[in-house]
Amino acid sequence: MTSKRIYLVLSLLVLVSMMVTACAPAPTPTPVPPTPVPPTKAPAPTAVPPTAVPPTPVPPTATPLPPTATPKPTPFAVKVGTDATFKPMEYKDEKTGAIIGFDVDLLNAICAELGCTATYENMTFDGLRQAGLAKKYDLSISSWTITDERTKQVAFSDPYLTTGLAVAVRGDEKVIVGPETISKTHKIGVQLATTGAEEGNKIAQKVGATVKSYDDITLALADLAAGRVDVVINDGPVTADYIISNPNAKLKMVGKLLTTEDYGILVRKEDTALLTKINAALKKLKDGGKMTELMKKWGLAQ
Ligand code: ARG
Repeated sequence: MTSKRIYLVLSLLVLVSMMVTACAPAPTPTPVPPTPVPPTKAPAPTAVPPTAVPPTPVPPTATPLPPTATPKPTPFAVKVGTDATFKPMEYKDEKTGAIIGFDVDLLNAICAELGCTATYENMTFDGLRQAGLAKKYDLSISSWTITDERTKQVAFSDPYLTTGLAVAVRGDEKVIVGPETISKTHKIGVQLATTGAEEGNKIAQKVGATVKSYDDITLALADLAAGRVDVVINDGPVTADYIISNPNAKLKMVGKLLTTEDYGILVRKEDTALLTKINAALKKLKDGGKMTELMKKWGLAQ
């Protein structure tokens, strides 16, 4: 073979190889290790935070804010003077020793309106008014009858309960059938410094009877049962409660009520702001039916 031929053959070979290469599939690229892709699970439906919810457009309203939106009154403490021997008005729970009763519930309801918390100072009724004047407490709830004589010294809230004085005798009493049949042979039992004492003294002066005064009206009623006094003059609801709660005492009430009396909450004359608040709360409780509810609870509904 001549060198020319060799050259031709070689050129042909190169050409063919080039053509073969051109037609051959593109060389497979060196496999690149797959980049680790985080699992492409369909993303769990993310809980949409409530704030993400587009606010439902609320049509502008002219409704005024409800009364609950009014700011709460600043809490304050009140010291309350009472003589807790006057069931069902204010007395000590036999088991717990706690002071309970209609008046306590009423004051708690007033405090719920005004934002106060009450703590009690228990003392005899006889010393209660003076203790108030001496600032031993802030207010007194203790079945106080609103009287002209008392309002010269202290102030009272608007009336919250109307009652009257009742005459109690032993179940077998024949002579005393009402206040006008009390005579000079009789001993009248009363609680010191009360309107009952005032009436008892009036009758005693008129007919010449004697008066025996007690610090605690339940002692007078027990003495009546025991024959140590002949008649007890005291607030009707309290005497009625005693007769029902102590059937063994065998007492009864006779005649009509001696008086009609309104109960009020006592404050010092200068504490006018407190008095205004108490009266506003009382009005709410009367208008809203709470007063009637409490009267029913404690057997005082007329
Ligand atoms: N209502 C009568 C008065 O004001 C008796 C009140 C007695 N109260 C008492 N908690 N013992 O004179």
